[in-house]
Amino acid sequence: MALRWPQPILFVNSNSFSDRLLAWFEQHGRKDLPWQINASPYHIWLSEVMLQQTQVATVIPYYQRFIEQFPTLDTLAAASLDDVLSLWSGLGYYARGRNLHKAAIEMVQQHDVKVPNDFNALLGLPGIGRSTAGAIMALAYHQRFPILDGNVKRVLARYDAIDSWPGEKQTEQAMWQRAEALLPTQRIADYIQAQMDLGATLCTRSRPDCQRCPLQTDCQAFSLGQPETYPIRKPKKTLPNRQTHWFVYIDNHQHILLEQRPQTGIWGGLWSFPEAPSADGSVHYLPIKNSQFLSTAAEINHVFSHFRLRILPRLFSAEQKNRLAENNRFIWVKMEDALTLGLPAPTRQLIDTLLNERML
Ligand code: ADE
Repeated sequence: MALRWPQPILFVNSNSFSDRLLAWFEQHGRKDLPWQINASPYHIWLSEVMLQQTQVATVIPYYQRFIEQFPTLDTLAAASLDDVLSLWSGLGYYARGRNLHKAAIEMVQQHDVKVPNDFNALLGLPGIGRSTAGAIMALAYHQRFPILDGNVKRVLARYDAIDSWPGEKQTEQAMWQRAEALLPTQRIADYIQAQMDLGATLCTRSRPDCQRCPLQTDCQAFSLGQPETYPIRKPKKTLPNRQTHWFVYIDNHQHILLEQRPQTGIWGGLWSFPEAPSADGSVHYLPIKNSQFLSTAAEINHVFSHFRLRILPRLFSAEQKNRLAENNRFIWVKMEDALTLGLPAPTRQLIDTLLNERML
């Protein structure tokens, strides 16, 4: 076949993902974070736990105070949990502080006073998941392990324009495989740090700076034109609807009848109005004699994680009945005083409305 000349020029990106990321890291990566200076596995482990769900700028002062007070693994293990938690105070997600202390004790007792240089041993310690174990293996021991924290998920979701939610098991598994396949054979610690830095500084959630990104030329989300729409958000569940009638019985001294809910189930142990769940809209009244229907109040819609509840309040005038007052699941209580009890949010809302609007 005759060659045509000139040949069409195809732009081929000869540099791999990791080459470009490493070259970018040389110029723009973060290399003077406190845990990168005289870094030891102990420093790296501590910083990685603090950096779970928390930004670098927030972590820095906490990290510095921690290192000052607990300069080594054995000083941390020997500390009281109270001392550890008091230094953690303000950083949030306190289970991290408790797990950190527990893990320090395990490292002292079972790992020869060392942060283990072994992925499975790390994974077995409290507070260390797959991504944190990978980060410690890569950053502290220069071993070839991937990470998949929020930053890396975002970078990969955009690079491949992944069109399913990364929280889904299958998607996450595929992303771990991708993260593993992209690992370089050299400079693993720099590469892992570069991934985190790119995600934190350029490939940000809402305004990615694609013009400066070393991955722009073959980033699928960039070429589709809307990188910020990746990663795909968690799909919203359509929740089932339920409805219930609430009976607001009130005597002529502004007392209302409340019922303590069963200890298990929604609003367990809290005080609310007697209610009748109703699938079909029919109403079953509490047997209170001499009660008279007054009016309905505005419906309240409350969303639980697994269903929506439509609450239809009905107001009645009533007389206090001993039979109910003696049963300690039921109380007659002055409306203002009811607000001091443990109440579900919609119950509180309804009592507030009744008090403010003087509906009764
Ligand atoms: N987030 C988690 N680990 C980090 C690290 N080593 N540097 C910056 N951000 C991080």
